[in-house]
Amino acid sequence: RNPEKERLLEAYELSAKLYHFLLKNTEHGTEAMRYLRSRGMSDKMIDQFQIGYAPDRWDTLVQFLEKRSFDLKEMEKGGLLSARHEQDGYLDRFRGRIMFPIHDRTGNVIAFAGRILGEGQPKYLNSPETLLFNKSRTLYNLHQSKASIRKSRQLLLFEGYGDVISAWEAGYHNGVATMGTSLTENQAALMKSIADEVVIVYDGDKAGMAAAMKVIPLLEGVGLRVKIALMSDGLDPDEYIRKFGAERFRHVMETAVSTTKFKLIYLKKNHILLEEDGKIAYAKDALPIIAALHSSTEREVYLRELSSELNLSYESLKQDCNLLRQSMQ
Ligand code: CTP
Ligand code: MN
Ligand code: MN
Ligand code: MN
Ligand code: MN
Repeated sequence: RNPEKERLLEAYELSAKLYHFLLKNTEHGTEAMRYLRSRGMSDKMIDQFQIGYAPDRWDTLVQFLEKRSFDLKEMEKGGLLSARHEQDGYLDRFRGRIMFPIHDRTGNVIAFAGRILGEGQPKYLNSPETLLFNKSRTLYNLHQSKASIRKSRQLLLFEGYGDVISAWEAGYHNGVATMGTSLTENQAALMKSIADEVVIVYDGDKAGMAAAMKVIPLLEGVGLRVKIALMSDGLDPDEYIRKFGAERFRHVMETAVSTTKFKLIYLKKNHILLEEDGKIAYAKDALPIIAALHSSTEREVYLRELSSELNLSYESLKQDCNLLRQSMQ
């Protein structure tokens, strides 16, 4: 046992409770509550995810921790407070932000992500890496979702906190998110230890699709089956659920596509298929992906799709595909 670690765990737990209380039961939280409501956040989710508010003051948490005899220097090192500039003393690290507690696998609060109300920079302020918090080994919401993941052997991977929360409310209790960093090998291995399949449910914008392209080989590399759910109109899952409802989101989840299909969709976006050059360029991008498939049935399925999409003969595409396969050996 590490006493400093124990004290920090205690401080994080109490801070999460304080922020949650301030949001729900005090004047300080009124504006934050209004903001959360405007985003469609329910009381039930506020409780389920222990969402809180850090008031826009310098010393709310300083006072709170001091009263409970915590060592403020230790709390600064632990990421809850900041050292004052050019004078002694400490101030709250998180001010005027919606607080999302981040838990470890067993449910201890080990960090916070603080979101600004509305527009502003940085949108999210995160806890630094500490004795408790290693970003690249943590998955947001794993403590609440692991039971459902183990049971279904399926994990849903989101980009953001709001996505996990909205999906939870829509009935998906097997969601996790990374925290603004790209997925690490360690996180992929952690997923593999409790799931067989991952559905990537990233934002439907360009960045989200590019991030999905990067994550696919990592997940497949540890032996996970991978599918991708496609959000339309550049929306993220949270926005999608708010705009179209849980029922249509369910449809999107049920029609999640294979990694091959996703790669083809992604590549197609770079080409104008109405032009001959565009058609040929897309075929050149698509064929290596299809040629890399081990199953000839799968290759046929995608080649036939490509053939009708580009209005090219199946035979000529197959011939090019086979040539590629020979050169790949
Ligand atoms: N993120 C971060 N810091 C930022 C922006 C993003 O840590 N300045 C992380 C957060 O974990 C965030 C995720 O990246 O949840 C996805 O980013 P983005 O899609 O921009 O944010 P949303 O989760 O959609 O946030 P919101 O809906 O509140 O705008
Ligand atoms: Mn509560
Ligand atoms: Mn995004
Ligand atoms: Mn988003
Ligand atoms: Mn969002």
